[in-house]
Amino acid sequence: GSTLQAAAAESGRYFGTALAASRLSDSTYSTIANREFNMITAENEMKMDATEPSQNQFNYSQGDTILNWATSRGKQVRGHALAWHSQQPGWMQNMEGTSLRNAMLNHVTQVATHYKGKIYAWDVVNEAFEDGSSGARRNSNLQRTGNDWIEAAFRAARAADPAAKLCYNDYNTDNWSHAKTQAVYNMVRDFKSRGVPIDCVGFQAHFNSGNPVPSNYHTTLGNFAALGVDVQITELDIEGSGTSQAEQYRGIVQACLSVARCTGITVWGVRDTDSWRASGTPLLFDGNGNKKLAYNYVLDALNAG
Ligand code: G3I
Repeated sequence: GSTLQAAAAESGRYFGTALAASRLSDSTYSTIANREFNMITAENEMKMDATEPSQNQFNYSQGDTILNWATSRGKQVRGHALAWHSQQPGWMQNMEGTSLRNAMLNHVTQVATHYKGKIYAWDVVNEAFEDGSSGARRNSNLQRTGNDWIEAAFRAARAADPAAKLCYNDYNTDNWSHAKTQAVYNMVRDFKSRGVPIDCVGFQAHFNSGNPVPSNYHTTLGNFAALGVDVQITELDIEGSGTSQAEQYRGIVQACLSVARCTGITVWGVRDTDSWRASGTPLLFDGNGNKKLAYNYVLDALNAG
């Protein structure tokens, strides 16, 4: 294949990007996005603060803009994200206890119902585990509603949209030997053993010097897949430049291709200048929309697979 989406499709996988609704009118941006990617994630527009700015007052305008842009071009959509400690609307941030639990479940139900039948996979719960060596759940207002809040969110999402794959999504879960990776693995194993509806695990894959690409990445992906879930690389970006960066991108692609249930890869933005990172050059296209060396390595790795 001569594009990322075509090359990934040769092994039955997708290649995606995050898009911002505010940039779709930039023709350099939208031309690259349309040509290269066949799975679209809304970078911010389907999050809790965007979709429920006032309690029980839902606003899908920006999320629908992304969804319609994608589906009208024959692309699929990853939904991001139904329940998260961050980017909560102001009204939710100071809630606790039963009222918060019910508000969260109502949010999951309402948003998943609005997009019913249109989403390939939802990030149902995002970033619920602590960093570091504790292996604990992250302390958040959602966690304080009870340790079963994650499975409750998954059950609500399944009831609202039975066709969508339901994912748990997190960062710094790439290295198999890290406590956070093990903690997420144990949760997924527990969910599968108890019949909690979970179909996939998303690995955000934001890499930098503090969180380098691990040499055991294929082990991580393979071990999760062996639990009976799909695995996906959901927010890939890698700090750096040149050959070093390109080789790291290649390693990620090869790790995914080595695991049958790694169904696709999404990069977290189009051009370096579109990245959430304030500085740096972590993506596959430079600020002018030119393909970087990392792009060539990714394309070649996809075609070799
Ligand atoms: O839209 C407002 C604008 O009206 C306002 O003037 C401006 C002033 O700061 O802020 C704008 O909102 C910003 C929004 O991005 C849109 O640009 C927010 O401040 C900013 O916090 C927000 O950042 C997003 C971040 O999530 C928030 O947590 C990034 O774009 C987005 O790339 C990033 O994505 C996350 C994933 O959802 C989860 N995993 C990590 C990843 C990277 O942090």
